[in-house]
Amino acid sequence: MAKRKMILDLDTGIDDSLAIAYALGAPDVDLIGIIGSYGNVVVEAGGQNSLKILELLGHTDIPVYLGESHSSTSDHFDRMQVSADIHGENGIGQVELPAPKRSIEKESGVDFLIDAVHKYGKDLTLVPTGPMTNLAAAIKKAPEIATEIGNMTFMGGALTVPGNVTAYAEANINQDAEAANAVLTSPMHSTMVGLDVTLRTLLTKKETQQWRDLGTDAGEKFADIVDYYIQAYVDVNDNLGGCALHDPLAVGVALDPSFVTTIDLNMVVNYNKETYGRTIGDDNRLNEPTNVKVAVAVDKDRYLKTFMEYLTALFKKN
Ligand code: BDR
Ligand code: CA
Repeated sequence: MAKRKMILDLDTGIDDSLAIAYALGAPDVDLIGIIGSYGNVVVEAGGQNSLKILELLGHTDIPVYLGESHSSTSDHFDRMQVSADIHGENGIGQVELPAPKRSIEKESGVDFLIDAVHKYGKDLTLVPTGPMTNLAAAIKKAPEIATEIGNMTFMGGALTVPGNVTAYAEANINQDAEAANAVLTSPMHSTMVGLDVTLRTLLTKKETQQWRDLGTDAGEKFADIVDYYIQAYVDVNDNLGGCALHDPLAVGVALDPSFVTTIDLNMVVNYNKETYGRTIGDDNRLNEPTNVKVAVAVDKDRYLKTFMEYLTALFKKN
């Protein structure tokens, strides 16, 4: 099977960790690198979490780069309290993992991304599941990458449902709405996997128990990490009945778009008014060719089956 070159741009985070596991468990992915972003945790902590999760899953062969440490419109990043509440103080559910053997790469995440697009072009899939600061910076520095890249599928935004940080804004977009707007109004084609579909794709302790029952280190640690996240969801929004698989759903859709139903739109992101962070159709470009596919419905049963198949097989080996 020809494998797809993939880069993940993550603010690792519990569901970001699940995105790593999905990419490593998928038989058709060659994960060539991870870029670190700020968001759920500060950028350095996110990078360390990515290395730890990769090592827990038997991969010391995948490089991790750091991207930008704050939004393009600010000179620092303040972590929101809700991030610590949902992902734990350390970002991975307060579970202690050994210090990673591999170090963070010296090259910047933005340059790594630009070089990879130049090298692999249409064979490259990028999945950002944090703020879009790194991608916007890469497009600003090397505008040609917008049309050279093969696939960009991101977790972020909300079109048909309210935001999860404000009534309008989803967390990733809210971190840097200006960067998200720059990306979505660039010539780059993308697929948006937002709260419209991720809040319908849930995991419960029934599934994490199956990982625990494997009796492996990875199975047990992931069960502990994700149980923390499930409990946080119960505390914050107990009518959902589980935790949302935001970031791993974006990886799944990048690989198999038939998991979701999309509508074609041109989009803008509001960044200078009371609707900060809102992802909405661009009424100035209603008659122009579209560049964003927005997921509005999901085949959650088929996705969950694939998710469990990939992750269980991976945890069994580690
Ligand atoms: C998104 O925000 C982050 O907290 C999660 O990791 C996910 O990417 C959900 O709104
Ligand atoms: Ca994330």
